Amino acid sequence: MTSGRSFYITTPIYYPSDLPHIGHGYTTVAVDTLARWHRQAGDDTWMLTGTDEHGQKMLRAAAANGVTPQEWVDKLVTESWFPLLETLDVANDDFIRTTQPRHEERVQQFVEALHDRGYIYAGEYEALYCVGCEEFKPEAEIVDGTGPFEGLKVCAIHSKPLELLQEKNYFFKLSEFQDRLLELYKTEPDFVRPESARNEVVSFVRSGLKDLSISRSAFDWGITVPWDPSHVIYVWVDALLNYATAVGYGTDPAEFERRWPAFHVVGKDILRFHAVIWPAMLMAAGLDVPRGVFAHGWLLVGGEKMSKSKLTGIAPTEITDVFGSDAYRYYFLSAIAFGQDGSFSWEDLSARYQAELANGFGNLGSRTVAMIAKYFDGVVPAPAAYTDGDRAIQKIVADAATTADQAIERFRIDEAIAAIWTIVDALNGYITENEPWALAKDEAQHERLGTVLYTAAEGLRALAVLLSPVMPGSTAKLWAALGAEESLGALVAQPIRAAGGWGVLRPGSVVTALSPLFPRVEQA
Ligand code: ME8
Ligand code: MG
Repeated sequence: MTSGRSFYITTPIYYPSDLPHIGHGYTTVAVDTLARWHRQAGDDTWMLTGTDEHGQKMLRAAAANGVTPQEWVDKLVTESWFPLLETLDVANDDFIRTTQPRHEERVQQFVEALHDRGYIYAGEYEALYCVGCEEFKPEAEIVDGTGPFEGLKVCAIHSKPLELLQEKNYFFKLSEFQDRLLELYKTEPDFVRPESARNEVVSFVRSGLKDLSISRSAFDWGITVPWDPSHVIYVWVDALLNYATAVGYGTDPAEFERRWPAFHVVGKDILRFHAVIWPAMLMAAGLDVPRGVFAHGWLLVGGEKMSKSKLTGIAPTEITDVFGSDAYRYYFLSAIAFGQDGSFSWEDLSARYQAELANGFGNLGSRTVAMIAKYFDGVVPAPAAYTDGDRAIQKIVADAATTADQAIERFRIDEAIAAIWTIVDALNGYITENEPWALAKDEAQHERLGTVLYTAAEGLRALAVLLSPVMPGSTAKLWAALGAEESLGALVAQPIRAAGGWGVLRPGSVVTALSPLFPRVEQA
């Protein structure tokens, strides 16, 4: 299944000092869904996630907890960040930690290469730094503090005081890349998506680029600058390189050639690092720029960007413990237009769970399987002559599969799910209209009843295949209940780009009872 073109996709590598919240979970399940889709389409897929473990923020958190930074990150990654992937049913191919030797050595090699190529020089620097962002702040993102921070300059994102840093630094000649970056955005209009993100990046770069300070000497929790051991490499330069070091940059040329370049999915908070600094670093090193950067919006809770530091953080387990991981994945990926901000509320989540998952999709599965059990002794009937109504269903399935695949190509997971959901709605309407329970009362309608139930079961077969990247758990249960595992093999092995074809489910397959895919939840 992996003979197709390369599809390498990444999440940001998260700072482990924050506990995972639904914002991290959102990016991660989006990337996992895109990766699962491409894997199931036969593309040579690789999904990477990981943790960003250096920098001042981590050093201070460790000190505050009385342990070494390495002990601190080891504990957090093992206790909180690996389990997040289990919680959300994520099938990542690799997990990179920036404290791993495979990363640290290659980062030094990369920075050395930029130095040799003349893109790095030493200079003096004095600027306001935000430890929360791990970034020297541009004028536009500095505001006056209020309350306890009255009279101080604070970060517009974190609302915390900025620190005036004055150091000898090494600089990367970012300013030299303005024209090449603008050319890139022009010749590859999809390099930054969505459109709003692209516009922001283009106008930022048009307004001029300053050289970037890429080393720090005031602390040592980082990767040593190879030609000057009194400096460590700036944490963002270190972090961005994970995308290359994880696939063999500097160690495994064949693997790097096979995977690179990547698609990066990030929150819009870190768009500029990915769409400006990172491609410029790659250009300077003579490497290919990424295939694209997709910036999604913020999850808002109570109208504010949800964040741990503002105490609006919600742990993914709070949701999955009640609704399960499939509902988590479905909810965030369907309810929010990918690329725009979206508000989270428990009311909206429960309402959609009940209406769309339990009553819409889950119930369709249960009653179809139950009717095949009851009227055909559990054996999927063969269809007889198709009516116009049956053919309308076949067309809806075919169109949904095509539209969904096109939406996934554009990273619009929400639109893909909406297209697939036309099948759920159409099949529910079809069953209501055809009243199989009434047909069952008339022996003369037995053949017609078989066609109706075959149509419903075959529609469910397509739904299982198309929804498997979004909801791997419940679709696998449905697949088994349809008796498809036996005759067609594993669900994840079903070619997703052929999912819209008709007549795939074999008559004669034996169905087994299906417990509710989305059981009723007790809600406060
Ligand atoms: O920035 N809504 O790590 P980070 C949606 N280590 N997504 C959110 C979110 C919200 N309210 N809050 C966080 C870093 N995210 C760096 C990245 S990459 C080379 C280095 C998600 O732990 C979103 O993907 O602060 C955002 O970009 C990311 O978490 C920031 O994670
Ligand atoms: Mg952050």
